[in-house]
Amino acid sequence: MATTTVRPKQQEAIVGGVVPVKHPLVQYHVTRLRDQSTPPPEFRNSVRCLAELMAYEATKDLPVAKTRVRTPLEEADGVALRGRVGLVPILRAGLSMVDPVLDLLPAAEVWHLGLYRDEATARPVRYYDKLPEKRPVDVALILDPMLATGGSVTAALASLREWGVPHVKVLSLIASREGVDAVAQQFPEAQIYVCQIDPELNDQKFIVPGLGDAGDRIFNTVEPE
Ligand code: PRP
Repeated sequence: MATTTVRPKQQEAIVGGVVPVKHPLVQYHVTRLRDQSTPPPEFRNSVRCLAELMAYEATKDLPVAKTRVRTPLEEADGVALRGRVGLVPILRAGLSMVDPVLDLLPAAEVWHLGLYRDEATARPVRYYDKLPEKRPVDVALILDPMLATGGSVTAALASLREWGVPHVKVLSLIASREGVDAVAQQFPEAQIYVCQIDPELNDQKFIVPGLGDAGDRIFNTVEPE
């Protein structure tokens, strides 16, 4: 199908920092996530919609190569995506964002990181990390619906830095102001895409007003009170 590929002369520079994703559909789906009466199937659907909308924004600077394809009528110009993209879901909740992003980037690699937040200390605990030592991807997208203290995303960024990934983007549906600021300070080169930044964390380090525990609502494991 592809005939010749030509490298584009210029590509957009990748700049780090916090990138709010603003759109009426984003606001609508965040509202559905916030609503405590939203059942798990609808919650999962809104997570999928938001993951796709965020990935659309976060991949605007992906490098492409020119190519040619043959349509049923004649040849036409087109593009091919260039470079290796890695999706890095943080277990558990980040798993919910993998398939919608893979729909947009079918050739992406998926590298899992297992981290949970210790309930007493709110510090991340690693339980699965098998990133290889060599051949880092060119761009990594860290997938996690929530960024509260920022500890989990910081741990993921540290793993990707150790692997040698040159460009990292974080996709979080909801974050606290304190959390995104802490991550941006420690990893100024990372792009942190967020649909919603809430003003504070409560005593248990939950985002307020937030949406509760995304993992429990996605996987329907909310403990009855
Ligand atoms: C939640 C969430 C993030 C993390 C955010 O995961 O999905 O991974 O907490 O908190 P932080 O920014 O303070 O680190 P959790 O530990 O509840 O695990 P789960 O995904 O298995 O539910």
